Amino acid sequence: EKGTYPFYMLKEIDEQPTVMRKLTQEYRDEYGNVNIDNQLVNEVAASDRIYIIACGTSYNAGWAAKSLIESVTQIPVEVQLSSEFGYNMPLLSKKPFFIFLTQSGETADSRQVLVQTNQLGFPSLTITNVAGSTLSREAKYTLLLHAGPEIAVASTKAYTAQIAMLAILTQAVGKLKNSEASLSFDAFHELSIIATGMEAMVDEKDYLSDLVKQYLSTTRNAFYIGRGNDYFVASEAALKLKEISYVQAEGFAAGELKHGTIALIEEGTPVLGIITEEKTGPHTRGNLKEVESRGANTIVIATEDLARPGDQVILPKVHPLLTSLVAVIPTQLIAYYASMQRGYDVDKPRNLAKSVTVE
Ligand code: F6R
Repeated sequence: EKGTYPFYMLKEIDEQPTVMRKLTQEYRDEYGNVNIDNQLVNEVAASDRIYIIACGTSYNAGWAAKSLIESVTQIPVEVQLSSEFGYNMPLLSKKPFFIFLTQSGETADSRQVLVQTNQLGFPSLTITNVAGSTLSREAKYTLLLHAGPEIAVASTKAYTAQIAMLAILTQAVGKLKNSEASLSFDAFHELSIIATGMEAMVDEKDYLSDLVKQYLSTTRNAFYIGRGNDYFVASEAALKLKEISYVQAEGFAAGELKHGTIALIEEGTPVLGIITEEKTGPHTRGNLKEVESRGANTIVIATEDLARPGDQVILPKVHPLLTSLVAVIPTQLIAYYASMQRGYDVDKPRNLAKSVTVE
C-alpha cells in the first residue's frame, strides 16, 4: 500500500536504504561472510567471462556493476541488451557464465536469450525481484532481490537492489578466487555506509523539487553527462526522466558531447553533470563549461570531496566503485518531480507496461 505517499514511485525511492539493509540480512551469514549457494559461486568463479543480459533500467544496473565485478573478481564482464544479443550473438568465450538481470523475471526479450543459452548448455543465474517468475524457473540459479513489490512502472529500488546484489555476489566470487582486491572489499560494510548515504539523499526532496521548478519546469529536452560509472548513472537518469516526464533526455559520455551532440545545446537547455570520480571529474567540469558557454543551464551533482562552491547537489562519499547507488537517488527524485509538477500520473506513464512480455 502506498499509505500517505501520493505515488508508489516516491515510496519506492524512499525504501532503498531499507532494501540495502534487507539484502545484508538475507545474504550475510553469522560470521560476516556471504551466504550464497557454493555451487553458484564456484561456477561463476570458474568462468572466463560473465555476460550480463538485460533491458532498460536492469541493463543500466549491469553497466553500473561491471567495473566492481571486474576489479574484485578479475573476470571480464560484458553487458548486453537482450533484444540485440539474442539475434546477433557475438563470439562467446570458452567458459561463459550468464547473468540475467530482470526485476519482473518475465521480460520476453531476456527470456529468448535464456532459452538459447540453455540450449547451448551454458550456466545461468537470474537475479530477480519475483520468486517463481519465468526467468527464475528457467535459469540454473536464482538470487532474489528482496526489494518488495515494485508497483510504479519506472523502476527505482530494483536498480539499486540489482547493483547491491551483484556487489554481494562479487565479494563471494572474489574471495573464492583469492583476488587481491577482494581482501579489502566488504560488500556489507559498504552497503551499510551506502544505506546511510541514501537516507541523506532522500531527505533532500523539497530541495530537489525546487531545483526541478527552477531548471526543468518547462524544458522539452535535457542532458545528463558523466564519465565512467557516472556515464552509466547518466544513462539511467535520462531514461527515468524521459519515461515519466516525457522530457526528451539523453545520457551522454561527457567527452563525446563535443563530437556532435553539442549542436543541440541552446539557450536554457538543462545539462546535468554527475561527478563522483576523481580522475574524470575535472574533464566533466570542462565539458560543462563548454555547454555553459553555449547557453546551457548546468546542474552539478558531485561527491562531497570533489564538490566545488556552487554545485547544486552534494553526494555522500561511498566506495568509489559503488557511487552509482547514491548518485542515482537525486536523479530519481528529479524525474519524479519533473513528472509530478507537470501533473502526470507518475506511476503509470503513457505507452508503458510494468513487465514487457512481447519481443
Ligand atoms: C524503466 C523500466 C524498464 C525495465 C525493463 C526491464 O524504468 O522499468 O526499462 O527496467 O523493461 O524490466 P525487467 O527488469 O523486469 O526485465
